[in-house]
Amino acid sequence: MANYSRLGFGLLGTGLIAPFHAKAIRASGVARLVAASDLYADRLAKFTSEFQCKAYASLEQMLLDPDVQVVNVLTPNHLHVPAVLQAARAGRHVLVEKPPAMSLREVDKMQKVCAAAGVKLGVVLQCRTRRAVQAIRQAILEGRFGQILEADTYMKWFRSSHYYTSDAWRAQQRSGAGVTIQQAFHYIDLLQYLVGPVKTVEAKMTNLAHPGIPVEDTLLAFVTYQNGARGVVQASTALWPGTDLRLEVNGENGTAIMVGERMDTWKFKDDRPEDDAIRHYGSAAVATGSTGAADLGFHDHQAVIEDMVAAIQNGREPLITLASVRPTLEWALAMYQSAKQDAAVTLPLTSEEDVW
Ligand SMILES: NC(=O)c1ccc[n+]([C@@H]2O[C@H](COP(=O)([O-])OP(=O)(O)OC[C@H]3O[C@@H](n4cnc5c(N)ncnc54)[C@H](O)[C@@H]3O)[C@@H](O)[C@H]2O)c1
Repeated sequence: MANYSRLGFGLLGTGLIAPFHAKAIRASGVARLVAASDLYADRLAKFTSEFQCKAYASLEQMLLDPDVQVVNVLTPNHLHVPAVLQAARAGRHVLVEKPPAMSLREVDKMQKVCAAAGVKLGVVLQCRTRRAVQAIRQAILEGRFGQILEADTYMKWFRSSHYYTSDAWRAQQRSGAGVTIQQAFHYIDLLQYLVGPVKTVEAKMTNLAHPGIPVEDTLLAFVTYQNGARGVVQASTALWPGTDLRLEVNGENGTAIMVGERMDTWKFKDDRPEDDAIRHYGSAAVATGSTGAADLGFHDHQAVIEDMVAAIQNGREPLITLASVRPTLEWALAMYQSAKQDAAVTLPLTSEEDVW
């Protein structure tokens, strides 16, 4: 039987990521899945039958349901903004999948509309909730690294050509299908969250293994952070069979390396008793997306759902606010601009030309 003390969620879009949200909501104990909506009736029917929720043919209809208190926007990247604005204007809290939008102008508009409507807006960048990431952040805040010298990410993943042709939006630059804004956005966000903001970036983008698909499948970028640290962003979906993501932070007094969701290296000059436990954070058995879009656990999504419910109930901001993601989007857009102009780009971006 439904537990009506749980917050009611409605999912917009029942494609690839929707089951992860549904399972996360179900497992959370603080939320319940009320409804879903999709343009494709058969996809929607299959989903609502599997996850036992109401089906609505449009967002407009779903917003008439008073049990839907939070809308999760799970549509293709370029379609997030109108849905977020519509849900917010109808007084619903919103969780939007990454990247929240395709331009900074749209981010600012969403921010304004959600603030005016008095609703919470959270972004699904679930990797921020990983214990290893939170430990690195805490050590940075405590100054354990000393001056940070390098902060890098290496995402050597694989997606087949079939992945790119399975839906029209997955092969269109303007839909946000390239590896930089689609898969690597999570790890660019982690670097930004931990070490950012960024001062300058120089990026090269190519397509190594997906002929005929007009998006970059490989990114290589050099970055200088505002705090003086340097870094490399390497990201690809061309490198079969796909190996676990690496995120590395090196400071004058310590080094931390996360592989997948697991703490691989945790070493500080001021070794502390709690460090031993931190070295065991995460598990090599949790799939983090290296070999396919379906190769992902839902526990990070669960943490995002639980945080959103707590934010709404306690009147605080969610952990992953749109304002905190804006610099990540700006950095990603700057990399597209840099690759297009074949030149280093300095932030803040003065223009969003030459991005798409
Ligand atoms: N957080 C993560 O780790 C993660 C992983 C995969 C995808 N995503 C994000 O989730 C979003 C969706 O990706 P996906 O892979 O599930 O895409 P998808 O194409 O598999 O699913 C999107 C669904 O949205 C539906 N849709 C489009 N416009 C709609 C509208 N106006 N109303 C109702 N439904 C509509 C489509 O019919 C489709 O079924 C993207 O933003 C993507 O970046 C996040």
